[in-house]
Amino acid sequence: MLEIKNLHVKLEDEDKAILKGVDLTVEAGKVHAIMGPNGSGKSTLSYVLSGRDGYEVTDGSATLLGEDILDMEPEERAAAGMFLAFQYPVEIPGVGNMTFLRSAVNAQRKARGEEEMSSTEFLKVIREKAKDLQIDQDMLKRPVNVGFSGGEKKRNEILQMAMLEPKLCILDETDSGLDVDAMKLVSEGVNALRSPDRGFLVITHYQRLLDHIKPDVVHIMSDGKIVKTGGPELAMEVETHGYQDLKEGA
Ligand SMILES: Nc1ncnc2c1ncn2[C@@H]1O[C@H](COP(=O)(O)OP(=O)(O)OP(=O)(O)O)[C@@H](O)[C@H]1O
Ligand SMILES: [Mg+2]
Repeated sequence: MLEIKNLHVKLEDEDKAILKGVDLTVEAGKVHAIMGPNGSGKSTLSYVLSGRDGYEVTDGSATLLGEDILDMEPEERAAAGMFLAFQYPVEIPGVGNMTFLRSAVNAQRKARGEEEMSSTEFLKVIREKAKDLQIDQDMLKRPVNVGFSGGEKKRNEILQMAMLEPKLCILDETDSGLDVDAMKLVSEGVNALRSPDRGFLVITHYQRLLDHIKPDVVHIMSDGKIVKTGGPELAMEVETHGYQDLKEGA
């Protein structure tokens, strides 16, 4: 469903190449994990896919369900079914969490030519999903992410994901700063969303997260490229030996 071919990306303001020919295919129904050393370009890849400013694609392509996404505005990408959970979720002061989610859900429905969700229906659905993620009513009313703890922000992102029902979910280091219970909760939230028509790209440093979210495919990114692809055993290998052997293309 996601096809990235020979993607080259540089910083807009500087002549600095960050992605240097990424090739990656994520199939529907599969969970792909990307691991790799700090600064190898993992977050950059997710930013470029979501349409963040500041990056320039100099070569290559990326399509979602056959549509070229690199030419789309960020909101068009979202409407096309892409969701990105950030490494550092943003705070939106003054906008209630629930209001934000309802606008987001309805904006996407509208863009897809579907009917808006009524407020009663929305309330029912969000309450159910929030309960599964142990997010209380108070957190739903507070401004988006403002004053949320790291773990609460992450759980809130999974709630957004559950409400938006995207086709492709990209999670960037969802395990950073999560305590063991929160990691389990987040993983269960992700696992509950696994479905034959949905793909996942999970960026992580830790085998620990992958114990809970079992990946089908593991990729190693190093210096702006995918240097190795394998099964879950590749994550174990990283945990034991680090990236040194893999970096050298062994
Ligand atoms: N706006 C920017 N200005 C300067 N350098 C940048 C910018 N964005 C990315 N980079 C550089 O690009 C490289 C890749 O960064 P990126 O955040 O994608 O790495 P990462 O693989 O996600 O690392 P980590 O595992 O630490 O999260 C880094 O060297 C980073 O400093
Ligand atoms: Mg990163």
